[in-house]
Amino acid sequence: MSKIKVSSGFTQLKLSLLLYSKVFVVYDRNVQQYVDKFASGKPCFVIEATEEQKTMTTVMSICRWLLSQGADRSALVLAVGGGVTSDMAGFAASIYKRGVRYANIPTTLLSMVDAGIGGKTGVNLDGFKNMLGVIRQPEFTYICPPVLQTLSAREFRSGAAEMLKTFIIKDEDNYAKALKVLSEPFDADALKPLIEAAAKIKAGIVKKDENETGLRRVLNLGHTYGHAIEWWQKETKQPDPYTHGEAVAIGIIQAAIKSEALGKSKPGLTEKLRSDFKYCGLPTELPCSDDELRKAILQDKKAEGDKLNFVFIKDIGKVTVEKI
Ligand SMILES: NC(=O)c1ccc[n+]([C@@H]2O[C@H](COP(=O)([O-])OP(=O)(O)OC[C@H]3O[C@@H](n4cnc5c(N)ncnc54)[C@H](O)[C@@H]3O)[C@@H](O)[C@H]2O)c1
Ligand SMILES: [Zn+2]
Repeated sequence: MSKIKVSSGFTQLKLSLLLYSKVFVVYDRNVQQYVDKFASGKPCFVIEATEEQKTMTTVMSICRWLLSQGADRSALVLAVGGGVTSDMAGFAASIYKRGVRYANIPTTLLSMVDAGIGGKTGVNLDGFKNMLGVIRQPEFTYICPPVLQTLSAREFRSGAAEMLKTFIIKDEDNYAKALKVLSEPFDADALKPLIEAAAKIKAGIVKKDENETGLRRVLNLGHTYGHAIEWWQKETKQPDPYTHGEAVAIGIIQAAIKSEALGKSKPGLTEKLRSDFKYCGLPTELPCSDDELRKAILQDKKAEGDKLNFVFIKDIGKVTVEKI
């Protein structure tokens, strides 16, 4: 099986799993119905997929469970769920017995096009996101779009923003197609080629720069402001905070505003993106002042010294990373 497989069912996954003698499933409680379709009879560990549970404590519970199950170096850990699940299961697999194999079965749109690909794994530390972790590639990522039918509309939109982000970085044609599909009622068949294209773009970028020393930084489009918004929401205890993808959508609009103001993009880009995002139900306006976000931006962990790598948009399908 190739590293990324997109399929409308689980038959191929079941066949592939026959190649592994010992499979250990770590899954999100909310996707149990899908796990039953391909992993019945296999040892399972259930997690609650929340940021609060995304800690070393849970990873250690997974490791202890692997040990109690007699998992040895030939084990394959199968992560079934969204990014919280794959980040933790992938991390546990990466440190258990100095590293056993793992594979991702992403069940959120965000993890199908982003978190389930690229090999970043990890947990939060004392409330700080993704402070502990390693980069280690999964054996494969098996994507089955029909599972998205049970995802909440809000989580779906969060993933939609990351999908649009990927196409703004590298694929103008699919950007136009995605706008149409994402604005219509859920259709797994129509989504399938778009998810596949976005997942492969991310995989291609990561392959050229696994450790984020250069090219991979383009994937941070919209994230400078996106992360700052998430930080501000937490600091000010907003009652109904934006999801990660929603914050990134606002961040992409901010990147477009800056790109246009500095003459890096053609005039009108911001207005086009704003109307496209609204069309897909995504927010586009900052929830607070630019000034309030500066503090957060400056302490962003991706800042290097007093410079920050910022992703500007030249046009849909073309971006550039510059230090500011
Ligand atoms: N490793 C990476 O490269 C990377 C990239 C982006 C994000 N992340 C991480 O991913 C996490 C966010 O992950 P996410 O957005 O995929 O979602 P998630 O794992 O946080 O899940 C979101 C919610 O959807 C539920 N859910 C998942 N699949 C479902 C389905 N098919 N039907 C019904 N409910 C379902 C979950 O139980 C949860 O309540 C964050 O912790 C973030 O740091 C990692
Ligand atoms: Zn993101």
